[in-house]
Amino acid sequence: MTEDRLSRRDVLGAAGVIAAGAAFIGLGGALPRAEANVAKMEKWPWPYKKLDPAKTAEIAYNEWYRVFCGAAVVGSVFSQLREKVGEPYKSFPIDAFVFLEGGMAGWGTICGSNAGANIVSNMIIGPRIAGPECENGAVIGSNIMKWYSETSLPVYMPKDPRVKTEIAKTTSDSPLCHVSVGKWMKASGYPIGSPERRDRCARVAASVAYKLVEDLNAWKDGKYAEKAAWGPVKNFGITAQQNCADCHGANIPAPPTGK
Ligand code: HEC
Repeated sequence: MTEDRLSRRDVLGAAGVIAAGAAFIGLGGALPRAEANVAKMEKWPWPYKKLDPAKTAEIAYNEWYRVFCGAAVVGSVFSQLREKVGEPYKSFPIDAFVFLEGGMAGWGTICGSNAGANIVSNMIIGPRIAGPECENGAVIGSNIMKWYSETSLPVYMPKDPRVKTEIAKTTSDSPLCHVSVGKWMKASGYPIGSPERRDRCARVAASVAYKLVEDLNAWKDGKYAEKAAWGPVKNFGITAQQNCADCHGANIPAPPTGK
């Protein structure tokens, strides 16, 4: 942060923090000072104005061909909020999230559309772990991964699709890029580099963007009533997807309980 962006109060506050940090060094570390400075810069959630789901989906579909799934979903919402709200959306580096392509840098982990939806919902509402007061709404990102896993995708049909032949729909039973793309490739017979697979993923990003804005609009109206659909840590003692048997077969391991 440059000095001209710091108010006098901030500067004085920072000096106070440094003094407190110096006092802490004697007690064995400078962590409190770093924590205090980061906490000062954090300002979220950000304001939301209702958007048109179909328009958002069209933006996501077209943006996929420029920045792939994750940045397409983030940009489909934030580009419109740049116009309707302005800052801080104008300063948000949407294109930086291009790295979510291919399940994050090609590793086939979380589908970028899900990651993008979670980035957006968390910027606007706050995290799943924010506590019971956030239960209606903060869970939007978590619930979208459940919806993604259970839905025959893609559901959104672009107005002017780049690929005119019919695109197969598949249910992934997983929020993972590798599983979602793999099941679709098996069902359709198309390879990863085909125009059909590419258009399928662009339509999946559009489908997720549509659902995300539907949910955000409902939340804004106070009508998002879904609770957290998935509590693996509470229920199973481990972070996990819900389809344990898909990977573990019949022998789902029990985590250690520490007793
Ligand atoms: C995407 C595949 C996948 C899913 C879905 C999944 N797991 Fe796992 N899990 C694994 C893999 C791979 C390991 C590592 C296994 C090993 O090291 O032998 C693992 C490890 C574990 C472990 C600790 C290691 C062990 O073998 O005891 C537990 C406990 C566990 N899983 C429970 C669950 C439960 C409960 C669920 C569902 C709520 C679940 N898993 C869903 C793939 C998965």
